[in-house]
This record gives sequence, C-alpha cells and structure tokens, in this order.
Amino acid sequence: ASVVALVPAAGRGVRLGADAPKAFVAVGGVPMVRLAVDGLLASGAVDRIVVMVPPEFVAGAVALLPPSDSVDVVVGGAERTDSVRAGIAAAPNASYYLVHDAARALTPPALIARVAAELRAGHPAVVPALPVVDTIKSVDAEGVVTGTPERARLRAIQTPQGFAADLLRAAYAADLVATDDAALVERLGARVRTISGDPLAFKITTPLDLRLANTLLGHPAG
Ligand code: CTP
Ligand code: MG
Repeated sequence: ASVVALVPAAGRGVRLGADAPKAFVAVGGVPMVRLAVDGLLASGAVDRIVVMVPPEFVAGAVALLPPSDSVDVVVGGAERTDSVRAGIAAAPNASYYLVHDAARALTPPALIARVAAELRAGHPAVVPALPVVDTIKSVDAEGVVTGTPERARLRAIQTPQGFAADLLRAAYAADLVATDDAALVERLGARVRTISGDPLAFKITTPLDLRLANTLLGHPAG
C-alpha cells in the first residue's frame, strides 16, 4: 500500500513578503521546500513525494531537491486547493496521501510517521491538532464580534494531513475551495481524527515566523 506525500509549494507568500515565492525562501540557509521534503524522507513513512510549485519554478525545484526517483515536481495552481488537486492527478495510484505544506519546514519526522501509522491502523482521515492559546472570536464585515466559541473545544490544525486515497479523491471531485484538505473531507461527512500535533510543525507565514524558524535552526540573522 503506497503512501504518497503531496507537498503544496506553489503559493506566492504574500504575507511573508520576501522576494521569492515562500517555499523557495531559505530557512537556516536551506529553501523551505527542501527542508519539508527532507523531513518527509527522514520519516521513513513515505514511498513517493510529489511537490507542486509555481510554473516558472519547476526546473529550479528539481535542481534544489534531492535527486531521487521517488521525488517529482509538478505545476501547482492558483489556490492551494488547485495545487493539491494537481498533486492527486500526478499520483493516481496511491493508497494513502499525506498532504504537507512546504511552509511547515521544521515539522519533526516523528509527527509525519505518527500520521502515517494512524492511516495504516485504519483511520481514513488524520490531522495533527494543538490547543489554541488565544481566545478566538467570529466577527462580521464591520469587525463587530458575533460570537466566542468555547476555547477548550477549538484546535489549531497542522499538516501533514493523512487520508485514505479514495476519500481524498472523492473530496476533491467536488469543485470547492478550502484552507485545508480535511475541510473538504468533512463535507463528505467522513470522520476526521485528530492526533497531537507538534509546535515545531508551525506554518511559516509572517516575517516573525521566519525569524523564529531561523533562530531555531541556529541562524538568527537568516
Ligand atoms: N500553496 C500552494 N498553492 C497555492 C497556494 C498555496 O501550493 N496556490 C502552498 C504554499 O506554497 C504553502 C502552503 O500551500 O506551502 C500553505 O499556504 P500558505 O501558508 O497560505 O502559503 P502562501 O499561499 O504562499 O502564502 P500567502 O497566503 O501569505 O500568500
Ligand atoms: Mg496562502
């Protein structure tokens, strides 16, 4: 039963505001997409990796990723959902998919292995989750608070998100957009299991996140 990791790396990184698309920005001297792929390989849980990048970055990605028959680069799309859809199409024979953001470059390989182990144990949808530290409120278009969900019942969701391949393909058959893959699976009514996430799997989104990541890797100046 083959486990294929799909790595969305086709975003523009607007919130980070660097010169290059975010996945190609270095952390500790190494591009995020390379760190993410190295982490997947180090997990020992993945048979093949498909990386989705902006169209003009295909050759550049091939050059900076480890030379391996099991790592492929394809063109992503305008939304993250489009990029994941392109990855699914490039790996139609998978038994399981692990969808893992390039921007979660410091994700411990042990977390990746735990998600894969839950899939093999028969759970069709598995996502890493952490308690939220801030109180979360909903607001209307004017910014007026409309509600405060009970914090103890909220979780911040990370990647890799693991799915039985048929389930993820079915979720992506509908032409919908979402900020994570599990949301599309939830719309099918499937049970999505949470496991304990890892703080190091945080998504590098803002300049502060990049400073934190560089500092954690011992390169505080970037
Ligand atoms: N991603 C992708 N294709 C897109 C948009 C995002 O493959 N069209 C990827 C990003 O490269 C990233 C992951 O999805 O690895 C998570 O997205 P996010 O953190 O939002 O990255 P960006 O979209 O690049 O950043 P921003 O939203 O600030 O522009
Ligand atoms: Mg984005």
